[in-house]
Amino acid sequence: MTEKQQRFHAAYPGSFFLTSEEPELLGEFLKNIGWISPDETITLIEKPGEGNMNYVLRVRTDRQSFIVKQSRPWVEKYPQLDAPIERIVVEAQFYDALSEVGELQDFIPALKGFRAEHFIMAVEDLGKASDFTNIYNKSVQISPTELTDLVGFISGLHQVSAAEIREPFPDNQELKELNAEHIFNYPYLEDNGFDLDSVQAGLQALAMTYKQDEALKKKIKSLGKIYLGKGDTLLQGDYYPGSWLRTAAGTKIIDPEFAYLGRAEFDMGVLVAHLKMAQTDDAVIEAGLIHYKRIGQNFDHGLFAGFCGAEILRRIIGLAQLPLDLSLEEKGYLLTWAAESVLNPQMNTFMKTDTSDISRSTTLRNHD
Ligand SMILES: Nc1ncnc2c1ncn2[C@@H]1O[C@H](COP(=O)(O)OP(=O)(O)O)[C@@H](O)[C@H]1O
Ligand SMILES: [Mg+2]
Repeated sequence: MTEKQQRFHAAYPGSFFLTSEEPELLGEFLKNIGWISPDETITLIEKPGEGNMNYVLRVRTDRQSFIVKQSRPWVEKYPQLDAPIERIVVEAQFYDALSEVGELQDFIPALKGFRAEHFIMAVEDLGKASDFTNIYNKSVQISPTELTDLVGFISGLHQVSAAEIREPFPDNQELKELNAEHIFNYPYLEDNGFDLDSVQAGLQALAMTYKQDEALKKKIKSLGKIYLGKGDTLLQGDYYPGSWLRTAAGTKIIDPEFAYLGRAEFDMGVLVAHLKMAQTDDAVIEAGLIHYKRIGQNFDHGLFAGFCGAEILRRIIGLAQLPLDLSLEEKGYLLTWAAESVLNPQMNTFMKTDTSDISRSTTLRNHD
């Protein structure tokens, strides 16, 4: 037994530990819970791609192929970091909530099964796919069609009404608190023990400007409070290139474990932040955002700009680093832009004007 397995069994003695190391036990388990038939044969077990938080396998049999995902009480990539195991419930419930929303079905894998007692979920295999993290490379651009898909999905998601979600959606508070720490607090601690020069020489000194900017820190803190609060829009919660897949059947959205009922401005701020870090042309971003149809319905541009800036700042000076293809000067420029976006949101012109026809006539006002 590996150390991880022992740790898991000590905490959850009645739960199955998902691993590719014991294919016979896995086959037995899948038959017991009825996800495969008694006479079905497993022909392949493999890791379908790079993940962060969870343990994910592709299981192929003589009849079907599907993805099995288990959450554990830690971050799979960094097992020394604890993480709330209930996050798999959020993910399963997100897929379940959307299972009746026709126009979003094409963008997500179908939920095949969920066993809460084992913290295991099975979803449709979207086939060999790669996520969108290569768009951070200067030589790779997101295509306008892909951006249309991404904005179209999130626009549709944000229009799902609470009435369509059959069960009350989990508040996901514990995972949000973990996330909030890494977005709104940790990056701004002068002595957090993370040497940014180990990422890129000179980054630590560059970051110091922001770690010592009291006005910025105060605004970031207030954004954190809003993030931790509630809203009435179902969010994907982690809408960045690692959650987007390029598949043979087009653009797909996965990994909604950070989903919660919150403010639409959060998903949109994160989306635009990553497009900026991927050096997407402003004109391409603008053209993509036209497909966001919810704008005007109580969309707070200042809040959007705040979340957008905060996400850029934390990805450059925080712990959750990305494979960014940016020189120190380029990071410096982006950090300046991001801090401005937080402190002086009017300079961030994305999502600013109502682009949908109907929203021009709406009487709803933005509020701070
Ligand atoms: N339904 C799916 N079909 C095909 N590949 C998938 C599917 N779900 C996940 N993958 C692959 O597995 C990787 C890890 O899955 P993900 O849900 O992102 O796990 P984590 O929560 O650990 O980040 C993804 O980046 C993707 O490459
Ligand atoms: Mg992932």
